[in-house]
Amino acid sequence: MANIKKIAVLTSGGDAPGMNACVRAVVRTAIYDGIAVFGIYGGYEGLINGEIMPLNRRSVSNLIQKGGTFLKTSRSETFLHVAGRKRAADVLKEWEINGLVVIGGDGSFRGAHTLHQEQNVNVVGIPGTIDNDIYGTDLTIGYDTAVMTALDSIDKIRDTAASHDRLFIVEVMGRHAGFIALEVGICGGAEEILVPEVHLSLDDLGNLIKTWATTGKTSSLIVVAEGDELGNAHEIAKTLQSQFHANCHVCILGHTQRGGSPTATDRLLASRLGYHAVQALENGQTDIMVGWANNAATFIPLPETWEKKKPLDAELLKIYRILSA
Ligand code: F6P
Repeated sequence: MANIKKIAVLTSGGDAPGMNACVRAVVRTAIYDGIAVFGIYGGYEGLINGEIMPLNRRSVSNLIQKGGTFLKTSRSETFLHVAGRKRAADVLKEWEINGLVVIGGDGSFRGAHTLHQEQNVNVVGIPGTIDNDIYGTDLTIGYDTAVMTALDSIDKIRDTAASHDRLFIVEVMGRHAGFIALEVGICGGAEEILVPEVHLSLDDLGNLIKTWATTGKTSSLIVVAEGDELGNAHEIAKTLQSQFHANCHVCILGHTQRGGSPTATDRLLASRLGYHAVQALENGQTDIMVGWANNAATFIPLPETWEKKKPLDAELLKIYRILSA
């Protein structure tokens, strides 16, 4: 057992529904185990600026159902430099904090790993991003809620597409990954799903659209991940219009997918991972991410979480092709 007496928790990068539930789990587990716990406001930037507050069980009351992050978050430029990280480590020392829980995505994990390597800070990461693009965990906190939010919009767009016999291109988030697009595409009955992980040329897409009319389809929906190689929804629509005379309507779901009350799946995941992160620090584990795979907690060295690529479900890719025809 490590001699952990005081820990701190921060949220970093893009907010994700379930981050509050996760902070709550970290705070209450720590207090249960007799560890003092501090909240850092504004991610790494807040740490550098010493924006730290002690938290108690009541500080995290009535938060489990709330979207966003009450601790606030940021993408810190200062933390990318050694002087910023040194300052961050000094602040932790001043407060005698000997464990840091970082809830965020791959950029936040890179920061946590460097802080550990360079400044010898004990860190444990918890995957919190709607993109689900972190190796070593089946799900990331916020992904399930983002899928439900996007799906709700897609169902509504389908009503209009069907009523007007229209072709819609719906752009969902996922900077470098197609997890949201694939799942909402399948669940929303999309005709085509464009994801960065799978190559499809504009010609292939144009030809596919032509075949839809011949099979009796009067309306259709293409879901595109924002990081797809063909470009964003507006660019794709423009090309399909000019080269294939396909009249496309575009809808970009954007940041609606990042907000809202977390689903039960996200609250459960957040509660589990918050608990395991504190236990991991107490057990002397550091420079790791706590994830959830095959119905059990996983403990993955931080660099693996971004060096190894989490693949899209190959079977789902096959199934959607069969079902969308
Ligand atoms: O990583 C989460 C994410 O929502 C991506 O899907 C998206 O590309 C990015 O964050 C947007 O970031 P920001 O809110 O800083 O523009």
